[in-house]
Amino acid sequence: MAPEPPPPPPPSPHVLIFPFPAQGHVNAMLKLTELLLPAGLHITYLITAKDHRSLTTRLSHPGFKFHVIQGLYEGPMDTGDKLSLLLDCLTETTTPLLRNLIIDHPVSCVIADGIMDFALAAAEGTGVPVVFFRTVSACAFWAYFSIQDLINSGELPFEGTNLDERIVNVKGMEGFLRRRDLPSFCRSGLSNRTLQQVSNITRRAPDADAIILNTFDDLEGPIVSQIQKHCPNIYTIGPLHAHLKSRSTSKSISSNSLFEEDKTCIGWLDRQSPKSVLYVSFGSIATLTRDQLLEFWYGLVNSKKRFLWVIREDLVSSNDDKSKVPLELEEGTKERGYLVGWAPQEDVLVHRAVCAFLTHNGWNSTLESIVAGVPMISWPFFADQQINSRFVEAVWKLGLDMKDTCNRATVVRIVNEVMKVRKDEFTGSANQMVKLAMKSVREGGSSYCNLDRLIEDIKTMSIQRKDK
Ligand code: UDX
Repeated sequence: MAPEPPPPPPPSPHVLIFPFPAQGHVNAMLKLTELLLPAGLHITYLITAKDHRSLTTRLSHPGFKFHVIQGLYEGPMDTGDKLSLLLDCLTETTTPLLRNLIIDHPVSCVIADGIMDFALAAAEGTGVPVVFFRTVSACAFWAYFSIQDLINSGELPFEGTNLDERIVNVKGMEGFLRRRDLPSFCRSGLSNRTLQQVSNITRRAPDADAIILNTFDDLEGPIVSQIQKHCPNIYTIGPLHAHLKSRSTSKSISSNSLFEEDKTCIGWLDRQSPKSVLYVSFGSIATLTRDQLLEFWYGLVNSKKRFLWVIREDLVSSNDDKSKVPLELEEGTKERGYLVGWAPQEDVLVHRAVCAFLTHNGWNSTLESIVAGVPMISWPFFADQQINSRFVEAVWKLGLDMKDTCNRATVVRIVNEVMKVRKDEFTGSANQMVKLAMKSVREGGSSYCNLDRLIEDIKTMSIQRKDK
């Protein structure tokens, strides 16, 4: 009798990846996807129609499947209200859709942006594990998680107007946290919808099977330990972009940018002296008033330093005056500056001409600056950025925080401090941090090992699902 044919190999684990539809989140989730693909995982990436249109023109051969979600809010997201609107819209439209996907397909696990806690409801009763990926820093996640403790202890809402008062009920940050460093929506009182939403959603993190964080232990280990008291299974696998490069065999990593990059700025940088340029960018969401734009602009021109500035088409609030910029600014910019609508940021930051980064401290920008060894000048706009910038100055000693001030004299003073007076000090600490970041993503490093553990755990989840 002919021997029985061997059983077919098990199909590879199928992971649904679902980012929150904003540049910083989509970017980080795509990097996670690219890190998981070589392990043979089969990935379906859920995406809005608008982001899909932007990405498919840039991503060559993604190696995974997109699943497009129609009918979501696709406008700007520069206020808490708009963020809340999108979250409501996502919860309503997408919970049933996600549930159908989970039920109709052999899904091994869902990796959802942790800000979308409705993924838990979608998977309820199906046995499919839900892993939350929080794209913010561990320190921001922990501050969000601690909002309820701040309310219980009476530190929230603030009494009086002194934003420099110490906050003592975010464990592990007692020594340096001030009211002004808490997530921006903490300033608006307890009825603020974003405050309630972010606090409630973050408190659901322990209901997920695991949490992925885009950070590394040498950067945020003590804060990760605080989170672990509530969510024991955490995978710190960042900085993702460095991790991806460290594992990639090919030199070209595809761009995850949702905007068209103006690469002419690299040519301009090539013509500048080493460590002479201030790179200025406020990410994809932050907006400035016309007054703030002019204060920054005067500050940059008056600092006499060379600068490369990303002025997005929608950087200045749409209802603000769009009249011409003063002649002296145009002339100062022609002499020492270069403006683009969107830059290839990772390439800019590692360019030898760049000395410092004036940033809003979105988490991706912060990590990219850390990996490039570039000191920061922080001007946080909202949400997590307030606490990131506090860590930049007070904990990691990687630059100076100018939050809540925006006038030309301060810009001149701080640019001068970071690029001249204390340049060696900040460059020294930035270089130390690069070493730790790179160690974490090399074979044997903490993030490297954690990613291997995540992949093994996803494979185990897949086998357990099949056995059921
Ligand atoms: C948002 C939030 O604002 C941020 O605080 C949160 O941590 C993630 O989501 P965003 O404001 O866009 O993101 O900031 P950030 O996280 O820094 O992400 C911006 C990304 O766009 C970075 O990866 C950066 O490299 C990229 N970028 C920015 C460019 O490629 N070119 C540019 O000109 C500007």
